Amino acid sequence: MTEWHKSDWRAKPRIQMPEYTDLDKLTAVENRLSSYPPLVFAGEARRLKTQLAKVSRGEAFLLQGGDCAESFAEFKADQIRDTFKVMLQMAMVLTYAAKVPVVKVGRMAGQFAKPRSADTETVSGTELPSYRGDIINGFDFTADSRVPDPERMLQAYLQSAATLNLLRAFSTGGYADVHKVHAWTLGFTATPEAEKYRELANRISDTLDFMQAAGIGEEASHVMETVEFYTSHESLLLEYEEALTRVDSTTGQWLAGSGHMIWIGDRTRQPDGAHVEFARGVQNPIGLKCGPSMTTGHLKALMAALNPRNEPGRLTLIARFGAGNVAEHLPRLIKAVKEEGASVVWSCDPMHGNTIKSSTGYKTRPFDSVLREVREFFAVHNDEGSIPGGVHFEMTGADVTECTGGVRAVTDEDLSSRYHTACDPRLNASQSLELAFLVAEELTNRRARMQNAEAV
Ligand code: PEP
Ligand code: CO
Repeated sequence: MTEWHKSDWRAKPRIQMPEYTDLDKLTAVENRLSSYPPLVFAGEARRLKTQLAKVSRGEAFLLQGGDCAESFAEFKADQIRDTFKVMLQMAMVLTYAAKVPVVKVGRMAGQFAKPRSADTETVSGTELPSYRGDIINGFDFTADSRVPDPERMLQAYLQSAATLNLLRAFSTGGYADVHKVHAWTLGFTATPEAEKYRELANRISDTLDFMQAAGIGEEASHVMETVEFYTSHESLLLEYEEALTRVDSTTGQWLAGSGHMIWIGDRTRQPDGAHVEFARGVQNPIGLKCGPSMTTGHLKALMAALNPRNEPGRLTLIARFGAGNVAEHLPRLIKAVKEEGASVVWSCDPMHGNTIKSSTGYKTRPFDSVLREVREFFAVHNDEGSIPGGVHFEMTGADVTECTGGVRAVTDEDLSSRYHTACDPRLNASQSLELAFLVAEELTNRRARMQNAEAV
């Protein structure tokens, strides 16, 4: 194989990318971005890969979550803090059940570009190009706003840098200290899952008090006071990705400097297309969305392209089939992985196969379907003897009403009250925590199965 270069994708068929009209402006933006510092360091991406290798063996669990699409308008410290906080709470619930570390990866600090099912959108007889995320064009339904503007990439870069800066500050500056497990509950409204979380927080504090009294774990106190938090996004807008891709001086390998992990969407995973060509050459951990149309042939070709050396932690397969469809599609993909002897992380995205239009006209996701898909995912892995390694959610720490159901029972009529997403409907804080408790049940079963398997 000839040597890979970060611009090789340009020779391949591309879909879901904008047609920029002002090419001089595009080149100027690409040149500027290419001269800016990358957002992440190669050592961090390699460390995440090591953690994901543990996930692939069942020695850790992956929690990936955040906005469907970050937006310029919703860029606020509180938003970032609240989503980070809910992820920490979910991770705490999952760690307690699984008794293994939870690898935390945000759909944050770079999740701006969106693939769309239709190129245009029609409202009251007016047809305009679809909104493709704030890094490409504007959400407002006007002809001007929908024109792709390369300068939006600069704003997305700056917003990503500032978001990542705050995430790093929260992760290591004391906010994520496990001794503050109670402080994270402030602002909770009285719901059954908030109560469950408080109980769990009490048990954790008791254990920490005991450890401190007994002088255990003093040398590990740094570990308790900080968390590792990684960033990820769909690698869709390849001009942006290429501009932030650099050779890592310690290894001489390419690194996508836009985030720790990048993924390829279900619509852009053609084995000889531009998106696969780009992802195959960078050393970051790669996610691959697997929807119902993924054949075993596609999957084998994609594994060969994206992970030819079968490096553990390199490839995460993110299943997103929809509730009721998992048993039909997942087993063949698990078999293909086994036939190739491939090392992968299996993760479940119960969001993208469960989007419907509500009776009130909003795009939504019924919480029951989300839940059911998670259960089906664990059940199939149980049957196949493979390892359910993680979950991938669209969620926010804010109290939005975008997905229906949950203990606080958001109805079709409620959707209009706080529907803020720039793209797909997200779980709110309460629904996210409720889901974490349900995944925790599945993880308790996974742990029992793994212990039984070791015993025989
Ligand atoms: C997404 O994760 O926002 C997305 C578009 O997913 P998929 O490619 O699985 O549809
Ligand atoms: Co989405």
